[in-house]
Amino acid sequence: MDHRFEQARAAFMAGVQQHEAGQLAEAEQSFLQAQALVPGRASVVINLAATRLALGRPGPVPDDLAPLLAAEPGHPEALALLARALTALDQPAQALPVLERLLHQRPVDAELQHRRGLLLGRLERADEALSAFDTALALDATHAAAWTQRGSLLREAGRLADARHCFEQALAHGGDPTLNRWFLASVTGAPADGQAPPAYVQALFDGYADGFDQHLVQGLGYSAHQGVVDLLPPGRVYTHALDLGCGTGLCAPPLQGRVQRLTGVDLSPRMLVQARARGLYQALHEAEAVQWLQQTPERFDLALAADVFIYIGDLAPVFAGLWRVLWPGGPVVFSVEAADDTDAVQLCAQLRYRHGETALRRLASAAGFTVEAVQSTVLRHEQGRPIAGLLLRLQKP
Ligand SMILES: C[S@@+](CC[C@H](N)C(=O)[O-])C[C@H]1O[C@@H](n2cnc3c(N)ncnc32)[C@H](O)[C@@H]1O
Repeated sequence: MDHRFEQARAAFMAGVQQHEAGQLAEAEQSFLQAQALVPGRASVVINLAATRLALGRPGPVPDDLAPLLAAEPGHPEALALLARALTALDQPAQALPVLERLLHQRPVDAELQHRRGLLLGRLERADEALSAFDTALALDATHAAAWTQRGSLLREAGRLADARHCFEQALAHGGDPTLNRWFLASVTGAPADGQAPPAYVQALFDGYADGFDQHLVQGLGYSAHQGVVDLLPPGRVYTHALDLGCGTGLCAPPLQGRVQRLTGVDLSPRMLVQARARGLYQALHEAEAVQWLQQTPERFDLALAADVFIYIGDLAPVFAGLWRVLWPGGPVVFSVEAADDTDAVQLCAQLRYRHGETALRRLASAAGFTVEAVQSTVLRHEQGRPIAGLLLRLQKP
């Protein structure tokens, strides 16, 4: 009996050291071994759960923690780990009461209040989320992430001046400079250069990926994928097409019969999973569009970008990259949201860029393209209102 306890203790100590050394898979095995020898030890259960979360494997964590929480329902570390696991498992409704049990013990913990706000936001309880961020900031006025979240809620509510103050505070307190500067530009009308931060785009679309097609096509009447394909002159079959920002691959079905080989590029791995499942792409790359265009050795006789340039304000590097990868005679078809000022690029408070036709024509010519077709369109509906867009076809002479 004693021997078993000694072995369990040795396995546990090994696990702790392995975890500290970053050897997470080995640490998990050591904690499992310790658990098998002497089940139910709180320190082992907690370390196993923390290791699995660090490994990005939250799946078994709720079951790991269940016996411990049954014996000790208020165990703070177990509650914190369970809330994190349920959040990672995309179960905000289950995570929220767990976090609230922990908050009951630690009501003045600003980080916990901030996390409660995040969960409420995911549950679309915006007013309660706002008040949770207010509480977090009342407890710690230097909590940069809470300022960012508060600003985002106020931006969505149309309170742009208040949102501006929040993003400025986030920057002043060390919040992510790229993200907060971009958020700030969206509420101040600052020059709309650059592009949406790739980390933001990736997180946004990884979150959307599962219900994307249904939400966009059936829910919002999205049609830019069909629109860009319809803008191609009839008859020609392309040998190798590039679908830039391919997302879940909505452009692929209307392209069937028009392309022999289709390559997709997108920032979001979860969107790419859906695109792969269609079985219509010969290659899919997880990459940022401009960087990929600047480096790829591949060449194409057609490029498409449906509803992608709403995340890219400065199209000059995109056009230069497209020029680089296209064979002469190759068309580029794409959609944009239309700016009120035809000579401008605007970053709107909904965090999407809008491009004006005159500005697009100037950029396209500067890159060497001819503008073959421009069509006004409705890209989709948002809160019942049509979103005006443009469809363009350029050509490399
Ligand atoms: C609104 S979706 C459109 C997807 C697809 N083209 C369609 O029509 O359904 C925009 C896609 O562009 C991708 N995206 C946005 N900016 C990008 C960038 N800079 N590089 C690569 N992909 C990007 C997003 O990850 C997302 O999948």
